[in-house]
Amino acid sequence: MLRRSPTRRDLFRLAVAAPIVLAGCGGRAVENSANTSAQGSAGRLLPSQAPLPQPFLRALPLPPVLKPVRSDAGTDYYEITQKRGTARILDDLDTEVWGYDGVFPGPTIVSRSGRRTVVQHTNELPVPVVVHLHGGRVAADQDGYPTDYLHPVSGRVADSHGQGLNGAQGSRDYVYEIDQPAATLWYHDHRMDFTGPQVYRGLAGFHLVTDEEEEALGLPSGERDVPLMIVDRSFAADGSFRYPSVDPSLLGTPGVTAEYMSGVLGDCVLVNGAPWPVLEVAPARYRFRILNASNARRFRLRLDSELDDLDRGARFVQIGSDQGLLAAPVPLDRLDVAQGERFDVVVDFSAHADGDLVTMVNERGEGATAQVMRFVVTGTTEDVRDGSRLPDRLADPEVLSEADVVATREFTFRRGGAEAHGMSLWTVNGEAFDPERVLAQVRMGTVERWTVVSQNNEHPFHVHLGAFQVLGTTGATAGRADGGWKDTVNLDNGGRAELLVRFDGHRGAAVLHCHNLEHEDMMMMANFEVV
Ligand code: C2O
Ligand code: CU
Repeated sequence: MLRRSPTRRDLFRLAVAAPIVLAGCGGRAVENSANTSAQGSAGRLLPSQAPLPQPFLRALPLPPVLKPVRSDAGTDYYEITQKRGTARILDDLDTEVWGYDGVFPGPTIVSRSGRRTVVQHTNELPVPVVVHLHGGRVAADQDGYPTDYLHPVSGRVADSHGQGLNGAQGSRDYVYEIDQPAATLWYHDHRMDFTGPQVYRGLAGFHLVTDEEEEALGLPSGERDVPLMIVDRSFAADGSFRYPSVDPSLLGTPGVTAEYMSGVLGDCVLVNGAPWPVLEVAPARYRFRILNASNARRFRLRLDSELDDLDRGARFVQIGSDQGLLAAPVPLDRLDVAQGERFDVVVDFSAHADGDLVTMVNERGEGATAQVMRFVVTGTTEDVRDGSRLPDRLADPEVLSEADVVATREFTFRRGGAEAHGMSLWTVNGEAFDPERVLAQVRMGTVERWTVVSQNNEHPFHVHLGAFQVLGTTGATAGRADGGWKDTVNLDNGGRAELLVRFDGHRGAAVLHCHNLEHEDMMMMANFEVV
């Protein structure tokens, strides 16, 4: 059942209109903001006002791995407090983060497939929060529905619609029956209307799932299994994250000022919270779990090294997608990573000499955002032991068949179709998000064919509760590395994706939406229900 409130709909309309009025911009300005940058990333650059650090000086931080507070026969129990913290990202200024345990990225949770994970979240922030396990095939009421609030310890906060008094206050448990293959998942805030600013302030972390099949492969592990959360951010003159919220308290009117409605692009690239960091690597194989946790920026990643022979020099070999291992490794010179997508890759540095530099660049960036991070190869293959393997066969994922399709649906993502004060909003099938409307009822365990289309702008399409396989895509990045089980797929401007979708295991209502977080906050979301 939907967690809904009877008067929400009208209040909702009011809320989406408000930021546009307050921003005081005419319709033309808003229309112009839908333009994409030269590289095609939806959004507009918000320049930093504080001096940015030099690239490749900071060591890559690793998010702490969270220890269970206790475990019993079938369950591991964790506790996280969402609170303010301080990070030193810039050279001379502190940055306040809103983080899980006060850090950004939040602590990494590692779950074993087949066991239950219970995470007790306590909200010491001044705003309501919602925790979504992105990629988790979990119960609908544990999934982080946008109005399923966890209110602050300090008291319930009426949201800007005069709603939102439902939900828990102080603390609540999220119960995840983890019964899916090994995969790189992540958790992040999903508060109605405010996901963009709350993730931007730091509410994002990794949640890894492991299983026996994966362990048996002998892939790089331990300190050679490295999660990389890539984001762009901008900084205000006082060192705080700069974001164009209409109301920076995040307690009143939601939304960004009109000119940033198509997305907020930062000018500083952070990996695991550090600007353009460096990782010292042995001349050996590494596993990198790459996540683009940016609000609006897409990356096209490539490894640049002194070895021109790509077959010898470090390159990406994809081993996993959003929700698990591929059947076989796929060498890729470039990774197109949209917001919310994960690419699990192995990179072999063993052809490199002591001191070689390998730089991860972003071919879609310009200026400082054209660079991401750097690897410094240290040592020689004589002194380094690499016991890892990269098998030809990784897994045996089920391949969905078109012959099993029981229903077909089309979802169109575009600007327009719904309006507030003469301004067009981001919509799904021409409708702004309405928590009371259900766009699709899907029978559990059946295969459906979904066509998702972008009519203007770029939209990473994401679905909760389940997963899909990509039959094909059209657009500038068509056919690039969409193998395996996915929950997020990029739509180019004017592009489309043909998907085979299946929901197993959990009935209930959840959302599908665009993972450009400014679009999402501006209504590009819809309900579906698994029945
Ligand atoms: Cu990563 Cu509904 O979101
Ligand atoms: Cu979008």
